[in-house]
Amino acid sequence: MITKCLFPAAGYGTRFLPATKAMPKEMLPIVNKPLIQYGVEEAIEAGLRNIGFISGRGKRAIEDHFDISYELEHQIQGTPKEALLSQIRSVIDECIFSYTRQIEMNGLGHAILTGESLIGEEPFAVLLADDFCVHDDGAGVLKQMVALYEKHQCSIVAIEEIPRDQTENYGVVAGKEIDEGIYQIEAMVEKPKPEDAPSNLAIIGRYILTPDIFQIIRDTPPGRGGEVQITDAIATQAKNGKVLAYKFKGNRFDCGRIDGFVQATNYVYENYYSQGGNYPDGQV
Ligand code: UTP
Repeated sequence: MITKCLFPAAGYGTRFLPATKAMPKEMLPIVNKPLIQYGVEEAIEAGLRNIGFISGRGKRAIEDHFDISYELEHQIQGTPKEALLSQIRSVIDECIFSYTRQIEMNGLGHAILTGESLIGEEPFAVLLADDFCVHDDGAGVLKQMVALYEKHQCSIVAIEEIPRDQTENYGVVAGKEIDEGIYQIEAMVEKPKPEDAPSNLAIIGRYILTPDIFQIIRDTPPGRGGEVQITDAIATQAKNGKVLAYKFKGNRFDCGRIDGFVQATNYVYENYYSQGGNYPDGQV
């Protein structure tokens, strides 16, 4: 059974400078809720309540967000504003939060390896909060993936179809479709040129990984950009055994980029907030 979800959140978020100079990218709000809270709510929906953050310098706001703010809460106690904190209060009550720091930002693979002490010897999920995923009905992406893990008991990456000319922004997979939207991975390439890409199926920021991945990451030399790439480690895992790619149901916004962030904001505002509710449950 999977109970833990890792949130790599140590990156510098340079594409959002100067907003991210002193504030973590993961705390950028989509309307009135930070990206990282949407991510934790998605994990809770999937039944994952052990939340591990890979934190870094300048990221303390994340710890404060998932903690009580006595002064503020005392100030608004008994007023209608109290309701605005009810969602985050229930998130805090439902989860156990652990933190570890990535000292040098050596890539996502390195960040996940930094989280080994929070995970131990069990399968776990990884959620990149800047990939904001929505579903207007049915289950969230992680919940869909946990259900698939229960059937296949192997590592799984979430994928989506992208236009060919965008492959250089993603890890790209190739494999055999074993069921509708489910592929057994045969090859994976990090940020290939369109002409070198094995398909147009791109990996997005949701993973379920079996714990043997940690040793594989340790054995993986730095790849593209001199960083330890999780794509390279998962490619090795796929070569040695079974790894699935899953075309999830729902939509994803790349909130690591300004245009994706603005699209997500408009989407949540128009479909939820302006109708008097919040995403994902419609409650205020
Ligand atoms: P990104 O490359 O999108 O994040 O990594 P970034 O480096 O913060 O953004 P830019 O390119 O400078 O704008 C995807 C996720 O992996 C985490 C990031 O925090 C982000 O959530 N990450 C990346 C780490 O935790 N450590 C790393 O060394 C690299």
